[in-house]
Amino acid sequence: MKILVVGGGGREHAILRALRKSPAATELWAAPGNGGIAADGFVCRAIPATDLDAMTAFAKEEAFDYVVVAPDDPLALGLVDRLAEAGIPAFGPNAAAARIEASKVFSKNLMKQYGIPTADYAVFTEPAAALAYIQQKGKYPVVIKADGLALGKGVLICPDEAAAREALHEMMEEKVFGASGTRVVVEEFLTGPEVSVLAFCDGETVKPMVSSMDHKRALDNDEGLNTGGMGTIAPNPFYTPAVAERCMEEIFLPTVRAMQAEGCPFKGCLYFGLMLTPDGPKVIEYNCRFGDPETQVVLPLLHSDLLTIMQACTNGTLADTPVEFDKGSAACVILASGGYPQKYPKGLPIEGLAENGQLAQSDAVVYHAGTAAKDGGLVTAGGRVLGVTATAADLPAALAKAYAAAACIRFEGAHKRTDIGRRALAALAEQNK
Ligand code: AMP
Ligand code: GLY
Repeated sequence: MKILVVGGGGREHAILRALRKSPAATELWAAPGNGGIAADGFVCRAIPATDLDAMTAFAKEEAFDYVVVAPDDPLALGLVDRLAEAGIPAFGPNAAAARIEASKVFSKNLMKQYGIPTADYAVFTEPAAALAYIQQKGKYPVVIKADGLALGKGVLICPDEAAAREALHEMMEEKVFGASGTRVVVEEFLTGPEVSVLAFCDGETVKPMVSSMDHKRALDNDEGLNTGGMGTIAPNPFYTPAVAERCMEEIFLPTVRAMQAEGCPFKGCLYFGLMLTPDGPKVIEYNCRFGDPETQVVLPLLHSDLLTIMQACTNGTLADTPVEFDKGSAACVILASGGYPQKYPKGLPIEGLAENGQLAQSDAVVYHAGTAAKDGGLVTAGGRVLGVTATAADLPAALAKAYAAAACIRFEGAHKRTDIGRRALAALAEQNK
């Protein structure tokens, strides 16, 4: 089969590498891909993921047998619908089902209507009304979320009324997130460990993957700004079998049934961002796609054939398809450009990688997020540059291997967190007492 993966980050690289293990995947392409993905042997074509006309035309012209749409925006714009019209089967939800991520108002209302546990909330289109509600509740911090997609930055946690006022002004009047801020969700602040669970869905059946933990803040000890994610570990030790069972009954199955009942069955990878609160697991957010960098620790542990599973999601045969994971652990450490998630330089030479963009001396895998080819080598080309992933029998060994491998890669101003997995290790130590 000739397969196209749409997107060009570390997540897409991880999907491509997992697909490469499938005997049926004879040709693997990426659009746009990136320099490091091309160095790793995948054919890249520089088409922006959001250019639906160009992408659909390209998919027809190259006669792909199957397309995997990985990022949120082309899913929300309806690339899967467009490909279906062109007769090309694709992995991912259609635009109607992608609303579960693309509109927080849609997802919050869905959860309320179907009794799926989540933070209390209200929706506003007027800043004055939102502020009056916040003042009347008088509980801080309060969480304010832009309705639409905002590159993972549309969530503001406001410690007091002044901050809430400022957040509403920025989102609703200054429109710093564009049209995404036309409506906002004001919600209760929840506490507890966070767990990411990615799940394969075929519209009816849901099969969760191994759990993971993201590290969203830029700096150690969860300080600094929110980022797309600075590192991940899997499995997440807070996600015990008892918690998993509860999530299946109270969250996963009800969500898939709710989407069916709403006439937009979800097919693809549904990402549950969960918080394990003192009142039980609650949904913080849904994503309509694989998480990044969660995918970089989840897919290396997948034992079953990814292509077979993806096709089963598209065809509605997931119930009969095994989804099995290895027993070990995985850790991913992100190397980011200095200054990320704010302004950062591009075009800096990356040292320490072999010609194929991998490490010669380590069996850790380097997933390329923001790299470009230049003068026969690779240079930085994004905020998150590389994700270094190692798998091992247990989490301490996976972390040690990932950090040792990451230390072999250099570029000017490179930044990584040094405490990926620390909270998970503490939880494991507690459990083993
Ligand atoms: P999101 O972009 O929706 O993933 O939100 C980013 C981060 O904000 C989440 O990973 C949480 O850490 C935090 N967050 C979002 N909603 C809440 C909430 N209701 N209570 C506490 N933290 C939250
Ligand atoms: N790592 C969080 C996300 O993919 O949205």
